[in-house]
Amino acid sequence: MFLSGEEEKMLAGEDGHATRKAMQILVALGEIYGAEKLVKVSSVQVSGVSYKNLGDAGLEFLDELAADGRARVRTTLNPAGMSLTDWKSQGIPPSFAEKQLRVIDAYRRLGVEISCTCTPYLAGNEPEFGQHIAWGESSAVAYSNSVIGARTNREGGPSALAASLTGRTPLYGLHLEENRAPTLTVDVGTALGTPEDFTAMGYAVGKTATDGIPLFRGIRRAGLEDLKTLSAALASAGGVAMFHIDGLTPESKTKPVSLELVEFTSKDLEEARASLDDDGTPDFVSVGCPHCSLTELATLARLLRGVEVKKEFWICSSREVKRQSDEAGYSRWIEESGAKFALDTCMVVAPVEELGHRVVATNSAKACHYLRNAGLRVRFMSLEDCVAEATRER
Ligand code: F3S
Repeated sequence: MFLSGEEEKMLAGEDGHATRKAMQILVALGEIYGAEKLVKVSSVQVSGVSYKNLGDAGLEFLDELAADGRARVRTTLNPAGMSLTDWKSQGIPPSFAEKQLRVIDAYRRLGVEISCTCTPYLAGNEPEFGQHIAWGESSAVAYSNSVIGARTNREGGPSALAASLTGRTPLYGLHLEENRAPTLTVDVGTALGTPEDFTAMGYAVGKTATDGIPLFRGIRRAGLEDLKTLSAALASAGGVAMFHIDGLTPESKTKPVSLELVEFTSKDLEEARASLDDDGTPDFVSVGCPHCSLTELATLARLLRGVEVKKEFWICSSREVKRQSDEAGYSRWIEESGAKFALDTCMVVAPVEELGHRVVATNSAKACHYLRNAGLRVRFMSLEDCVAEATRER
């Protein structure tokens, strides 16, 4: 792989140990995938933040890099395993909190913004069409490639961090125009009225598309919340990192239509919704996977105004969107109901199973997928029904 003089110096260790290690990761990756060279990135989103996933080995790796490594481009952080300020009221064990705070401290020393959100594009880190970026959160990868038209592969934690420390990523995969065409056309023959419809469809199509690029036809409109949860569902069911919606997403008209065709009918939607729903009475309710937008917080405020929450109810969002919600007056109605903002974290990356919960109600297919993997049962329902469930007597 071709390296510029500056990149050769980084690889030789002239910019320190962490930069050399980062460059070694990128060169190894580039050679595996046949990249001709590195490309400069305008921003990085680092996943691999929760101590639940990193463990002690991950913490040691970060500590080692933080000794002399510094982010060269804007770098934001995925959710951690707990709220950084309210972890005690979340019931997080002190032994977990101590390790999680050390992880955060290492990222801070690396010059990473402690944003702790999976929707960086709602919290100030919004790339532009055509920009090369290196993002590691799978739902944000699918959203940025598809809805914004920025270019990123699905980075792992180490490769995203390596991109941050060097400002570069190998030029392969979705960074190249020729790899952004649809591999599968999905004719949607049913109306999609809610984000829950989009997330259920995404989960079903993601299984068929695996790591391909679906092109959806027949969708007349899709709002930000629909696209956010569709991105997450496609990415969690398969390895989808990009999709197109005919007439709606920026690159849908510039690409040839794939010959492989599947239909998605009202029966498929019904089955997809049913496949996400177990049985049992929820003892925990959580929404905001991916993290809630301001519009979702406005809806929650309207639904929760004047009512009392009876079950543990987490509303996952970013500090930035929560700040906007405070200004708009939504947060007060939410908090007065007894619902809790789960900032910096979410129901999946927090050790929810260790908090004694068994059945979780949520409106996200991605959350259903990972909570089941953690051994919990899930009830899949709309945002409105999640609120009704949270206000029901235990
Ligand atoms: Fe975000 Fe957690 Fe869902 S990181 S996409 S809220 S699993």
